[in-house]
Amino acid sequence: MSAASEEPATVAQPVAKPVAQPVAQPVAQPVAQPVARPVVQPVAQPPKAAVVAKPINLGLDVGTMNLVCARANQAGKIEIANLRNVFLTVDDVHIEGMDLSKISHARIDDGVFILSNDAYNFANIFGYRLSRSMQKGMISPEDINSTDILAVMIRELLNIEPGVKQGKCVYSVPGDPVNSKSNVLYHRNILGRIISEIGFEPEPLNEATAIIYAECAETDFSGISISFGAGLTNVAVVYKSIPVLEFALSRGGDWIDDNVAMAVGTIPNRVVAIKEKDFHLDRYDMGRKKERKVREALGYYYKNLIQFVVKSCLQELDRRDLDLGFPNSIPLIISGGTSLAGGFLDFIRSQVEENAWPLDLSEIRYAGDPLSCVAQGCLIKALKQ
Ligand SMILES: Nc1ncnc2c1ncn2[C@@H]1O[C@H](COP(=O)(O)OP(=O)(O)OP(=O)(O)O)[C@@H](O)[C@H]1O
Ligand SMILES: [Mg+2]
Repeated sequence: MSAASEEPATVAQPVAKPVAQPVAQPVAQPVAQPVARPVVQPVAQPPKAAVVAKPINLGLDVGTMNLVCARANQAGKIEIANLRNVFLTVDDVHIEGMDLSKISHARIDDGVFILSNDAYNFANIFGYRLSRSMQKGMISPEDINSTDILAVMIRELLNIEPGVKQGKCVYSVPGDPVNSKSNVLYHRNILGRIISEIGFEPEPLNEATAIIYAECAETDFSGISISFGAGLTNVAVVYKSIPVLEFALSRGGDWIDDNVAMAVGTIPNRVVAIKEKDFHLDRYDMGRKKERKVREALGYYYKNLIQFVVKSCLQELDRRDLDLGFPNSIPLIISGGTSLAGGFLDFIRSQVEENAWPLDLSEIRYAGDPLSCVAQGCLIKALKQ
């Protein structure tokens, strides 16, 4: 198929000057078709647009609880798809007689696993404890199958049709957590491997920096962002697209859920269900007694998390001793699923304003869509190149 380009010395090489050829030269193609099988190749198959189609580039947010993919459709609009990054091992679920063909699942070695949204629904209905392929922002060391399960879910989420040319996939990675010993090197490399096995050219991007890509075009991609996720809280300070500071704190929504569950004697899934439904940091008076207890505990742990994050940001800015004399004031962007609780923005504003920041903040605001802006920022980076 590439014989023409490999033999430049042969005289009969009209194709050898591609620069001079406008793209619309379909006649150049028939040579590549084996003459011996005319029946299989209907004549009425002109070279289709797919032949010259541009490779598809994607943004992928690989989160502890949510996997989110952003892509630009043909009209240039961003489309978002997402999956819960959770699973159940079939052994744990009495699933005899169930039709697995209607359930998102994976067979790995001798095991069968129910994946993503189906696993989440089963767990909520039957009170099972969900398993995670990731923990605290990175591949979970707890299950030997974590990596394989994550690979299946990512493949399902990207949903690439056969024949589509795959380009770049910019994927999110957390910063190294400053309050734990873990680091992101293994996780970053495993994801790079998974994405390249699917057929894309992988490129990692810090999760909080991705938020600046998605949200701060008006300030020339300068700003500070905090992503309150499930496993981690990620922070970045970015000046004109260049990260000045990136770090993570190993507390997030899971930390709240686990502590609340322990405090009031329930399982974390049940806490999540209450937290994601009309929860407000200062309003506990809803539902039955147990639910009211959960809501009150949620309020205390939420406020503690926010105070911890604000204090840690100030400490890190101070500790790194950066010269942050930005010429203009910059916005502070709040994002991530954990930030969606009612009263969150008001409380973080009050905590930020109580302290003197080494940066001049123009505003404190939410990202446009706190659940998908990391994937959108990754897509913007993928399309930039
Ligand atoms: N409406 C809501 N109110 C409160 N919390 C919410 C809401 N929706 C989602 N969450 C919580 O947000 C967290 C998930 O957020 P997000 O998708 O940003 O995290 P992630 O990207 O998967 O995790 P990480 O970035 O830490 O790896 C979970 O703890 C979830 O329970
Ligand atoms: Mg996240």
